[in-house]
Amino acid sequence: MEKSSEKLSMEALVSFAKRRGFVYQASEIYGGVAGMYDFGPYGSELKNNLKRAWWQSVVNKRTDVVGLDSAIIQHPRVWEASGHTERFADPMVDCRACKHRFRADKVVDIDSTDQAELIEGLKHTNCPNCGKNDWTEPRSFNLLVETSLGSIEGEKQISYLRGETCQGIYTNFANVIDTTRVKVPFGIAQIGKAFRNEITPSDWLFRQREFEQMEMQMFVHPDDAEKVFESWKAERMAWQQAIFGSDAVRFREHGPNERAHYAKAAFDIEYNYPFGFKEMEGIHNRGDWDLSRHSKYSGRDLSYFDEARQQRFIPWVIETSVGVDRLFMATLHHAYDEEEVNGETRTVLRFRKDLAPVKVAILPLSKKPELSKLATEVFGTVSGDYYAEYDETQSIGRRYRRQDEIGTPYCVTVDFESLEDGAVTVRERDTMKQERIKIDELKQYLSDQLKG
Ligand code: GAP
Repeated sequence: MEKSSEKLSMEALVSFAKRRGFVYQASEIYGGVAGMYDFGPYGSELKNNLKRAWWQSVVNKRTDVVGLDSAIIQHPRVWEASGHTERFADPMVDCRACKHRFRADKVVDIDSTDQAELIEGLKHTNCPNCGKNDWTEPRSFNLLVETSLGSIEGEKQISYLRGETCQGIYTNFANVIDTTRVKVPFGIAQIGKAFRNEITPSDWLFRQREFEQMEMQMFVHPDDAEKVFESWKAERMAWQQAIFGSDAVRFREHGPNERAHYAKAAFDIEYNYPFGFKEMEGIHNRGDWDLSRHSKYSGRDLSYFDEARQQRFIPWVIETSVGVDRLFMATLHHAYDEEEVNGETRTVLRFRKDLAPVKVAILPLSKKPELSKLATEVFGTVSGDYYAEYDETQSIGRRYRRQDEIGTPYCVTVDFESLEDGAVTVRERDTMKQERIKIDELKQYLSDQLKG
């Protein structure tokens, strides 16, 4: 077992995230709901910034990927075609002694859902709750979350909240081909909520019942699938390393007993969470599973005629799928740092600057009306371009610390000299270096700095 990241325990991360307005337990005033979380003022900014960075990289900067935003509830047949009603399941096991329920592969700690391997593993594993060894047989538990549509009682139609966002991409494959100029190979990307009735929601944002995915499905000729798979693996790893460096992320290949029902090949990009290296993103070669199943179940021919090849075929799918919440959790964990400054501990979130929730804080040195007036003007010049905060309460030192704790890259102090020389002091988060900048040049200065 790998050494987990030691810099911040899970408990400390969760409590810090709440204290600083990043993440709250959903419905907390009613006692909360297991596996559901709400994102606070800074959390929602960070999440949006992560989603924007992904979208820019996967859609905007490329010529071969387009975007989509499909419905959460699709026709129930979609989930039959996809194989989810039949096979989207985890092995569940109960302890007869204490009645606690677990995911069998997690209790045994193996990357396999093979029944014989699970039974063998359970023989040697005691219940984490009561310490006894009295297990039921592992049973398959379907993860789709059911809902119903319709207004007449008794005639309501069972539907499902999507278990993965990509199904809406496959059902729109023909629409996108018919209405845009894309040609195979091309990709469709989407960001959105997904829902799974996880047996044991756990590890904070890591295993939730409602979460968000950023998925890209590349449609390719079967002969190109392996090459495209390798190029997306490299591309996604480079993207992750640009946030986390190369030590905190790594690849892990799925074994044959572990792969999802649709996958011919699967690699995870794992991050070194407080509980060790675990999946943050999946990259899958899904073969022709998706389009051939939807062709069969819908009766609509989803094959593609390739003019250059003069050939008709069912495109294969290369998928990249990253959970926004797992990425969020890793980003917060990775950014967290503590250092000694003048005999005090400074907590600082060293976010990559484009990901920081607040980009700049405007801090008048005191609440004197003439300073507040100038500081409000300075706030007005930057707040249209960046998420800025205005704060005039408490000492300047306390206000710097507060901004460090939410990872704000720049603090701008308006002091009495500013009234004379039309300049402000700009303090950089990581180095704490201060520079005097003319107010008329501040916008350009911040734009140059934040670009880096
Ligand atoms: N379309 C493929 C797919 O859904 P997956 O490996 O089941 O593949 C992709 O999920 C990503 O979604 C995972 O790598 C993870 O980041 C995220 N994810 C899956 N289940 C999750 C859960 N219960 N809570 C939070 N994130 C989850």
